[in-house]
Amino acid sequence: GVTPKIAPSMLSSDFANLASEAKRMLDFGADWLHMDIMDGHFVPNLTIGAPVIESLRKHSEAYLDCHLMVTNPIDYVEPLCKADASGFTFHVEVSKENWQELIQRIKSKGMRPGVALKPGTPIEEVYPLVDSENPVEMVLVMTVEPGFGGQKFMPEMMDKVRILRKKYPSLDIEVDGGLGPSTIDMAASAGANCIVAGSSVFGAPEPAAVISLMRKSVLE
Ligand code: DX5
Ligand code: ZN
Repeated sequence: GVTPKIAPSMLSSDFANLASEAKRMLDFGADWLHMDIMDGHFVPNLTIGAPVIESLRKHSEAYLDCHLMVTNPIDYVEPLCKADASGFTFHVEVSKENWQELIQRIKSKGMRPGVALKPGTPIEEVYPLVDSENPVEMVLVMTVEPGFGGQKFMPEMMDKVRILRKKYPSLDIEVDGGLGPSTIDMAASAGANCIVAGSSVFGAPEPAAVISLMRKSVLE
């Protein structure tokens, strides 16, 4: 079966205090830390790269769930391996030709491969990557346009999650964008088990309560 993984998005944290922000989230009950890597090209925003992951790793043993919103994910495999990243989720929109080599390289470097899709991308596009002999181990269904935190959840993306869950009963299915107390039940009942949440967790008076509420919803 699938287990809940609650992953606060560190994009909503105070980047100047990343180590203490990470520790705070783990103390609040986070399972994973979601790290949004952007290149200013695949998305119109620029965040962090491998050097920051490497720095954070020196302060935390947590599972670092890296979401690569970049045009050339293959260039990030070696640096993120050196940084001791845990998950490496690339976008299907940029991996049309080389996804087999990409998955192979990610695995050979000891990281866990995942594939993400933007709201406008049909779910069928990820099937070959999950059905492959050398498959991705997670599918990330974006529930906002990638690039920025604090956007509104797109409930119509739940059809993708339902279809995926039906087809792959034990796959890790992650949702990212606009998740929080008012949207978690839609995502959980559709079948998502890995939940990314930025603004709803960091903006809450009691982040621990939001994290535990979301875990409960996935378990129900
Ligand atoms: C958006 C990022 C998300 C973002 C989510 O491009 O992939 O991880 O931080 O933030 P919220 O939860 O605020 O929508
Ligand atoms: Zn993300």
